[in-house]
Amino acid sequence: MDHEEFIKRVKSNIKTPTKPIEEQLVTFVDKCIYVSGQYDQDESFQNLENTLQKIEAGRPNNHRIFYMALPPSVFISVSQHLKKNNYPKNGIVRLIVEKPFGKDLDSSRKLQKALEPDWTEEEIYRIDHYLGKEMVKNLLILRFGNEFFGATWNRHHISNVQITFKEPFGTEGRGGYFDEFGIIRDVMQNHLIQLLTIIAMERPLSFSAEDIRDEKVRVLRAMPQIATENVIIGQYGKSEDGSKPAYLDDDTVPKGSRCPTFCAVAMFIKNERWDGVPFILKAGKALNEQKAEIRIQFKDVTSGIFKDIPRNELVIRVQPDEAVYIKMNSKLPGLSTQTVLTDLDLTYKRRFSDLKIPEAYESLILDAIKGDHSNFVRDDELDASWRIFSPLLHYLDENPEVVPMSYPYGSRGPPVLDDFTSSYGYKFNDQVGYQWPVQSTELPHKL
Ligand code: BG6
Repeated sequence: MDHEEFIKRVKSNIKTPTKPIEEQLVTFVDKCIYVSGQYDQDESFQNLENTLQKIEAGRPNNHRIFYMALPPSVFISVSQHLKKNNYPKNGIVRLIVEKPFGKDLDSSRKLQKALEPDWTEEEIYRIDHYLGKEMVKNLLILRFGNEFFGATWNRHHISNVQITFKEPFGTEGRGGYFDEFGIIRDVMQNHLIQLLTIIAMERPLSFSAEDIRDEKVRVLRAMPQIATENVIIGQYGKSEDGSKPAYLDDDTVPKGSRCPTFCAVAMFIKNERWDGVPFILKAGKALNEQKAEIRIQFKDVTSGIFKDIPRNELVIRVQPDEAVYIKMNSKLPGLSTQTVLTDLDLTYKRRFSDLKIPEAYESLILDAIKGDHSNFVRDDELDASWRIFSPLLHYLDENPEVVPMSYPYGSRGPPVLDDFTSSYGYKFNDQVGYQWPVQSTELPHKL
């Protein structure tokens, strides 16, 4: 592509709702330069170097951030060429690395070893954009800044935790990448396990990057590898009305692929706080809606005075429409003593109506510029999460008789899903009349 085409693409990805931003956009694209080259040729990197030096001429130092949003196959070559040709003599250097960080424990360690001679851990920023989402950044505050959550946040009060990721579209031409990785590597081993560690970690000594990441690693190390009996996998077929294609109809997907586009897995943490509490992670493409949320279901209240009273649930809606709400029993106003399920509801759009919520990447790139590692993945964290997932991934890859269950495009996933979640103690409450958000005309909320 040429410079004009590059600028066109940059502009098309930046939202400009107001005039002042349009002016800033012009100033911004004036600073953008496009240098094309090969991933494995010194000459190309030298060409980049010459361009960089021209821009930096006359500056006392040349701080540089290299952002590798690249196919994994060229990742090592590019990082080595950058080090050889473009590592500045006088300045701070940072290397942002996009997932996938390997395909299992071994390949992740290989990648890590390949980076080690050239880049220090201090210089590496492994990006997981879920850590940049507003609600995910709020989790530590919610948990550790509210005494009433702290007091009940354990196996004595919590029955089960569900972390859900749903997308209403399939691979749609991205099957080449997706098929090599599958839903477990694509979103569970990274995005969802990150949410789990923040929900489950102990209070960090401080908000410093290393204190936070130390606690996250401790959680991962207390988790056994996933047992295959605690897993269901699915792959989407055509939609019920036939208008949407099956995964296998995508031309970019290899014929007869067994790649899971849906997975639900129950995970456990063997420590004093969480022993016995299932953390159910669910992720799927081509489902009935778009959402990412954490649902913490509390235990039943003591029986006796109430019959079949619904359980409390704390729901943290990561996207869309950030919200935190607690499903709570209350007396139905009036002369009877009937109970009714209602909620305490913090919906961001209502509470913070005039504040702008930044995009995850916006916030993470700024963190990298500032040198704040808190919301990036540390090497031992990555290693610990691959250790938990790798045996399952190998089992699925190596056993052709393990075939994913089919579910229709646009459905809630494989039909066994509800039995699966209830087998880990989740009780779905379908009390007539309860729905969230309140203004919705939808049927009672179902996962
Ligand atoms: C990416 C996955 O990391 O996350 C995609 O590779 C997925 O498959 C995406 O669609 C989801 O991100 P978000 O921010 O839209 O939830």
